Amino acid sequence: MILHFVGTYVSLVASVLFILALRGLSSAKTSVSGNRFGMVGMTLALIGTQVPVYFENLDISLTSALMKVLVVAVLGGLIGYVIAKKINMTALPQLLAGFHSLVGMGAVFIALASFFLTYGMTSANHDVMHVLELVLGATIGAITFTGSVVAFGKLQGIISGKPWRFKRQRQINVIMGLCLIGLMFAFLIKQTPELLIYAVILSLIIGYMLIMPIGGADMPVVISMLNSYSGWATAGIGFSVSNELLVIVGALVGTSGAILSHIMCKGMNRSLVKVIFGSFGSQNKITNSQNDQMHRNVKLCSPEDAGFILQNANSVIIVPGYGMAVAQAQHVIKELADELKSEDISVKYAIHPVAGRMPGHMNVLLAEANIPYEDVFELEDINNEFGQTDVAIVIGANDITNPAAKEDPASPIYGMPVLDVEKAKTVLFIKRSLGSGYAGIENQLFYRENTMMILGDAKKVCDNLTKVLKNR
Ligand code: TAP
Repeated sequence: MILHFVGTYVSLVASVLFILALRGLSSAKTSVSGNRFGMVGMTLALIGTQVPVYFENLDISLTSALMKVLVVAVLGGLIGYVIAKKINMTALPQLLAGFHSLVGMGAVFIALASFFLTYGMTSANHDVMHVLELVLGATIGAITFTGSVVAFGKLQGIISGKPWRFKRQRQINVIMGLCLIGLMFAFLIKQTPELLIYAVILSLIIGYMLIMPIGGADMPVVISMLNSYSGWATAGIGFSVSNELLVIVGALVGTSGAILSHIMCKGMNRSLVKVIFGSFGSQNKITNSQNDQMHRNVKLCSPEDAGFILQNANSVIIVPGYGMAVAQAQHVIKELADELKSEDISVKYAIHPVAGRMPGHMNVLLAEANIPYEDVFELEDINNEFGQTDVAIVIGANDITNPAAKEDPASPIYGMPVLDVEKAKTVLFIKRSLGSGYAGIENQLFYRENTMMILGDAKKVCDNLTKVLKNR
């Protein structure tokens, strides 16, 4: 009894720590402490949920109860540590997808285990609320599992990133959805284990069918949506196994994932429905002949020329994008900025909400390079400043600067808020080619009067630029 009481309080403290962790992770400045809160919360959660269970079982000694928790925590922690150390920043989205698939799979296993352990193979007259929670947790978990596996495969390049479409796809999906609801109702009435298993199998197929038609460009939104699903599956399972901590943590993950999906959709000016049912990123690819045609109007610039322009500037805004992450150029960018600052040139960074491939992608990389937080500005706080800025340096970014979002109603990114870099006196574009970005559309900015292209790998170009400035 006392142990149960202690377990509940330890779980409550863990829940508060998880809330503090989420709060901490909402800003780059407090993210380290946010992570620490999460780690302590998870340790307490393990103790709070596991130890009382073992204590109630009189056959198990105190040491063996603690040892089991310790072995699981150390093993899991070790796997997490190795993955975190090895993973490239650019591969974080697929890592998240992989982790979500585990949450989904866990929810399915817990639901099935809970049903069979509680009721065995018997059917009928079970607590309806309990079986409802079980079937909800199991089906959402199964959809999350296969959906996340497909998302992982697409992002890792194992499965083609192109949207997979066939005739009557939507109708087939709707029919499958209706069948699943029918199966769930039948299960609630008859409560036979077979119906639960059929519902899980159908949900696994639905998860696959739901994510396969979504193009690679929308995958980060999908991942955050799956994150939300995995939270709701956890909360459902928490109710069915009467574990308050799982309910609280599941609800936290469910709502934060939903809010994140909303923020990302807002940043891309797209509705979640369009993400799920539209095909983004497949239109308006530049053909080679178009590319050649445009090449003639492009002003190419050497690091020496760029160095001269920068030397004569008073203010510079750096706009990082996905290419900075690919090139891992954040450290050399810091060196370049320090060099500019040493010449009394004001340097700021402009961060678009969907720059890179996941929310906060750029902030994390800039923080890794010890770039001061006070130099980093969000789109709405800095967009008005481009008009009074001498040089905007766009480093490995493309879509987030594309004026088509403001000027071309036919463009797939029309309506997406973009950084007004073209308003700066000079725009220096650092990228490897005139190729398109993630949305697969051309960027007219490359051909404007005040734009100069420095073609090359972001890290190498920034390094050369810094050397040029240092040697002047
Ligand atoms: P992109 O539009 O994808 O442009 C990145 C550019 O980086 C590419 O055009 C590429 O051009 C260049 N690049 C690649 N490797 C490089 C390297 N080593 N050195 C220099 N340049 C390199 O990226 P963005 O401007 O950051 O925009 C993000 C896109 O992702 C948007 O379309 C956004 O909607 C989408 N998206 C983002 C999110 C989140 S949450 N961040 C979620 C969903 C979708 P070259 O090949 O010519 O070098």
